[in-house]
Amino acid sequence: MQTFLVTGGCGFIGTHLVASLLADGHGVAVLDDLSTGRREALDPRAALVAGDVASPPDIAAAIAAAGADRLAGIFHLAAIASVPRCLADPARSRAVNADGTRNVLAAACRPGERSVPVVFASSAAVYGDAGTAPARESRPPAPISPYGADKLSGEHHAASAARRGGGRATALRFFNVYGPGQDPSSPYSGVISIFADRLRAGRAVPLHGDGGQQRDFVYVADVVAHLRAAMARAAATPRAGFDVFNVCTGRAVTLAGLLAALARVLGRSPSVEPLPPRPGDIRVSIGDPAAAAEALGLRAATQLTDGLARLLAPGALSAK
Ligand SMILES: NC(=O)c1ccc[n+]([C@@H]2O[C@H](COP(=O)([O-])OP(=O)(O)OC[C@H]3O[C@@H](n4cnc5c(N)ncnc54)[C@H](O)[C@@H]3O)[C@@H](O)[C@H]2O)c1
Repeated sequence: MQTFLVTGGCGFIGTHLVASLLADGHGVAVLDDLSTGRREALDPRAALVAGDVASPPDIAAAIAAAGADRLAGIFHLAAIASVPRCLADPARSRAVNADGTRNVLAAACRPGERSVPVVFASSAAVYGDAGTAPARESRPPAPISPYGADKLSGEHHAASAARRGGGRATALRFFNVYGPGQDPSSPYSGVISIFADRLRAGRAVPLHGDGGQQRDFVYVADVVAHLRAAMARAAATPRAGFDVFNVCTGRAVTLAGLLAALARVLGRSPSVEPLPPRPGDIRVSIGDPAAAAEALGLRAATQLTDGLARLLAPGALSAK
């Protein structure tokens, strides 16, 4: 049994990660400010510290709650996980998504003391709107939002802290994560909830542009498997350093294709309400999973229709 700290452990992906760690007998402490996460969503066996990653004393309190001597690693998921909210308040985006990551890494990677590995939730948003081929990690980042820029800054802080402090940090660039418990208004996967609600109600489904926008939808259990594999790899790697991997399927799904898949799962025939293209909408956001497959030894294997069926099972799509 090991003990982990999960920041953002009351959120969508965090609650799935905490459940997976607890199921394997690990101890878990959670640091979460409950801004979008819910206390009720957290398994009561996890110790919750209600606090802010922008505050170093709150991080220290969470590490103390986990037990500083026992702590085996930190999964850093806490963030303002929304492009529109970061656009509306870029100062807070910077304080949480960039500086909060720097704070977590400073607590984990301490020169001359015991460092613990950190696995950090970065985002496909660091690539911006950069072409039609699947993005490899070597593609020069070109974020087009404060959210993407601050996630990239978080990666740089993670890398520099790991090198300076002798620790190990891994950034995982998640693509569009979906699954039970997701926030129906999420900019990443909210389109699934909107399409499903309209299909169930027998109403026309709003589709911006020609429906040819391509996304890489990755099921939440596959994301959890990548987080845990990255932590195991970091723990088994004695040298200090930083790695970055995409977490994606490599499969392009157009929004029109997503609608067709949802209609199949729900047994409905879709009608479309055509809407003008959304300004600033990224046309193609697909990742290349090869580096993660090679280093972590796994792939995001869940087929879209299987993941959608699990997401749409009664009671699975809980609103936050
Ligand atoms: N969902 C996706 O498709 C997706 C894609 C790319 C990256 N990500 C990243 O994955 C991580 C988890 O995303 P999610 O979809 O579960 O989002 P979420 O909003 O459901 O979870 C984020 C959690 O962090 C907490 N939090 C926010 N600000 C905090 C702060 N200052 N201090 C402490 N806790 C704070 C929230 O209360 C919430 O519980 C985020 O870092 C996000 O940027 C998500």
